[in-house]
Amino acid sequence: MTSSLTPLPQSRHLATAIPGPRSQALHAERQAHVTDGFGIALPVFIDRADGGILQDVDGNRLIDFASGIAVTSIGASNPRVRERVAAQLERFTHTCFMVTEYESFTQVAKWLNEHTPGDFEKRTALFSTGAEAVENAVKIARSATGRSKVLVFDEAYHGRSLMTMAMTAKETPYRLNFGPFPTEVVRAASANPLRPATATNTTNDDGVPASGADVAAAALASVEATLAEHGPESFAAMVIEPIQGEGGFIVPAPGFLKGLREIATKHGIVLVIDEIQAGMGRTGTLFASEHEGIAGDMTLSAKALADGVPLSAVTGRADLMNAVHAGGLGGTYAGNPLACEAALAVFEAFEDGTLLTNARSIEATAREVLEPLVAETDVVAEFRGRGAMLALEFADRGTLEPRADLAKEISARCHAQGVLTLTCGTHGNVIRLLPPLVIGDELFRDGLAVLRQAIVDVAAGRDATTAEAAAPALA
Ligand SMILES: Cc1ncc(COP(=O)(O)O)c(C=O)c1O
Repeated sequence: MTSSLTPLPQSRHLATAIPGPRSQALHAERQAHVTDGFGIALPVFIDRADGGILQDVDGNRLIDFASGIAVTSIGASNPRVRERVAAQLERFTHTCFMVTEYESFTQVAKWLNEHTPGDFEKRTALFSTGAEAVENAVKIARSATGRSKVLVFDEAYHGRSLMTMAMTAKETPYRLNFGPFPTEVVRAASANPLRPATATNTTNDDGVPASGADVAAAALASVEATLAEHGPESFAAMVIEPIQGEGGFIVPAPGFLKGLREIATKHGIVLVIDEIQAGMGRTGTLFASEHEGIAGDMTLSAKALADGVPLSAVTGRADLMNAVHAGGLGGTYAGNPLACEAALAVFEAFEDGTLLTNARSIEATAREVLEPLVAETDVVAEFRGRGAMLALEFADRGTLEPRADLAKEISARCHAQGVLTLTCGTHGNVIRLLPPLVIGDELFRDGLAVLRQAIVDVAAGRDATTAEAAAPALA
């Protein structure tokens, strides 16, 4: 779709300090009117966004390593999305799919049935937010199995509604002061290769580091023990992220997800794969569970599904999805027509495979620039992730003592230099990279150079290197 706006230059540009004066004034106004309950990663107000750039109201152009938390994967003003949504806006904005129908809802469901992992007959239900998709997966699994319990994992994040808070692991800020929570949620060990919960040590008796296979086997044994304790026949669902997002971009030890698949099948438990952050091409495959060669009985999508227009989905085995009584699922805005059109545009964008290739190139470039820091510094414990879902964990060498202070300081230096990074992790000591899949190579490398320099400086206890020295190409 042609736009009346001039294209946004795909280069970093600092017109003022970050945040600039207009952002500061708008932030002060926000504080007078908006609840303090929302946190903020960077108090900068955005005027326009496109490709890998966020342009703020002071004229600064920031490199986007966040994509609105893994949402705007195909760009924050993608022409296909604009065109489809604008055409739908002219026709109608809403009917409520439970009142009268529209075809785009069915087309989105059809695409998800065809493209989510699993060679079985599927059905899809659409909602608006990720948390709603998780909640509904639990409802469906309970209805289909006649069981009530839900197994979740250490370091999990599933949302901010009451049920999903109960399923989320981290207390602060997600759960603090918000209980009591729904019961029937049981937590089991995950298989974090760097910080295995189930091995007493990361080395065995001979001082040999535990292998990924050891970590996975120990975690799986612990999952079986947890199920045995609570009665496996009482579990409706087990819900897992294929790469744990808010928990720290943790790629589970190899074999763990396959093992969970087997355990779920053995006990008749519905395996729900929460692909809300890792799905829709983010990791270089359409769905992250493809890397593990597994299929959930249900796969959850949201975030990048409609490129920023709120839409989420539960896609699962037809027998499970159809076990719910008519009228048992829904919601006023569930599968809103504007969001469905945006999703259809996203599907078109993925058709020729370029975006998946981009995700893999993003990983290769970031590995080339950042992975050597594990050996070069004493504080980068791990570089990990897949595709364009990548992270650096900061911890002291040897003790693995988490260094949230370093992650915070490095992120702040990146922000000051015009690179929007986000932190995450149970210990707050992880910097995550979630660039849009459409980011240009030169721009991405510029952002990485800034991040790398900030890490090197902070690790050496040095003041910030100036923008010019860090990246001479600064526009
Ligand atoms: C894995 C995962 N599940 C669920 C959610 C909740 O999604 P939403 O914020 O749209 O409710 C998130 C959000 O970050 C997520 O990363």
